[in-house]
Amino acid sequence: MALQAASLVSSAFSVRKDGKLNASSSFKESSVFGVSLSDQIKADFVSSSLRRKRGHSLRNNKGMIRAQTIATSAPSITNSSFDRKKTLRKGKVVVTGASSGLGLAAAKALAETGKWHVIMACRDFLKAERAAQSAGMPKDSYTVMHLDLASLDSVRQFVDNFRRAEIPLDVLVCNAAVYQPTANQPTFTAEGYELSVGTNHLGHFLLSRLLIDDLKNSDYPSKRLVIVGSITGYRNTNTLAGNVLPKANLGDLRGLAGGLNGLNSSAMIDGGNFDGAKAYKDSKVCNMLTMQEFHRRFHEETGITFASLYPGCIATTGLFREHIPLFRTLFPPFQKYITKGYVSETEAGKRLAQVVSDPSLTKSGVYWSWNKSSASFENQLSQEASDMEKARRVWEVSEKLVGLA
Ligand SMILES: NC(=O)c1ccc[n+]([C@@H]2O[C@H](COP(=O)([O-])OP(=O)(O)OC[C@H]3O[C@@H](n4cnc5c(N)ncnc54)[C@H](OP(=O)(O)O)[C@@H]3O)[C@@H](O)[C@H]2O)c1
Repeated sequence: MALQAASLVSSAFSVRKDGKLNASSSFKESSVFGVSLSDQIKADFVSSSLRRKRGHSLRNNKGMIRAQTIATSAPSITNSSFDRKKTLRKGKVVVTGASSGLGLAAAKALAETGKWHVIMACRDFLKAERAAQSAGMPKDSYTVMHLDLASLDSVRQFVDNFRRAEIPLDVLVCNAAVYQPTANQPTFTAEGYELSVGTNHLGHFLLSRLLIDDLKNSDYPSKRLVIVGSITGYRNTNTLAGNVLPKANLGDLRGLAGGLNGLNSSAMIDGGNFDGAKAYKDSKVCNMLTMQEFHRRFHEETGITFASLYPGCIATTGLFREHIPLFRTLFPPFQKYITKGYVSETEAGKRLAQVVSDPSLTKSGVYWSWNKSSASFENQLSQEASDMEKARRVWEVSEKLVGLA
């Protein structure tokens, strides 16, 4: 409802890399912006390396590690501490866009349980570190790593860095997004794709495709891939908010297939004229189709839970930063008192944290929503967001655009 209602308001207003334990195997505290890894996570990296022998190697040390916190040399770890840490192993969750809004609130909620270590995958390292500190997240509950989803090179670099750190991946949350509701000219990612779809869909598509192997290798009891959706794809076409223009519509994907570059193809997935608000909505439909296609292709074979969610209308987040000031002032009270769809960042963060960790939310292929009593339920997707043929085609075209096919 957030964006439909938004439009409504607008119109009205190192461990050994060979996997062996070595007394000299160690980590060095990171000096980047003062972020350090906790003994817990260091030990986890070691135990993970021993357990899984995944062979993620540091043999190629040429790739630069940008603004991340992993390095070499530190305390030796004995077998007994290894066993103890193994019993206490925290879940490791990567949350993209954890520097503000929903991502930050979910990261905080997960960190506060003491059962999760959050890898905050963010484009602005310093902002993320400050956000974690001001949210009161315990220092040893998170690690900030650089990820700019608007650059496929950066996505690949993130995956490389993440593997060098030998952190097990138990849950991946694709949360980051850009929304350009007032833009009437497209802007583009590093590879020249329209920014909203390029960031929200293609960046996350490549990230999750690359990290699916890491999820498969996790020994955590419940491995999950969560892609944050939106009410854009909810079956609500008979409600007022659901009919606010522009509506998401991927059409026959001619713009996506043409490369979304605004030159020899449209910057819009359906091949139409550029509309920033619609580009965002289209990207969210892609997110929900991708979740279902992941489920269809991988759930049975891997046991990974694939899920999407609509966290509610979090009218106060930075998502609306590019909207006109009047809108930003009126939207939160409009959602609170008129539509009553308003959800606080804290509450939305708890909802996302539930989808990450709640033992009762392990069903795969589900789009979660919450009722007025904040109870979760399986929601219905719109016709387009549940079109499995379209999901397959979005997957195949996206593979080409991100260089996987
Ligand atoms: N707000 C709502 O009402 C609402 C409703 C339904 C769904 N959602 C979904 O909730 C998710 C989070 O949105 P939000 O409301 O929390 O907005 P937000 O506060 O603006 O958070 C968006 C996050 O994405 C990050 N980001 C943007 N571009 C990025 C890039 N190129 N690379 C890496 N990170 C990037 C931002 O980083 P910076 O901090 O550096 O800008 C920020 O951390 C989105 O998927 C959105 O679609 C929101």
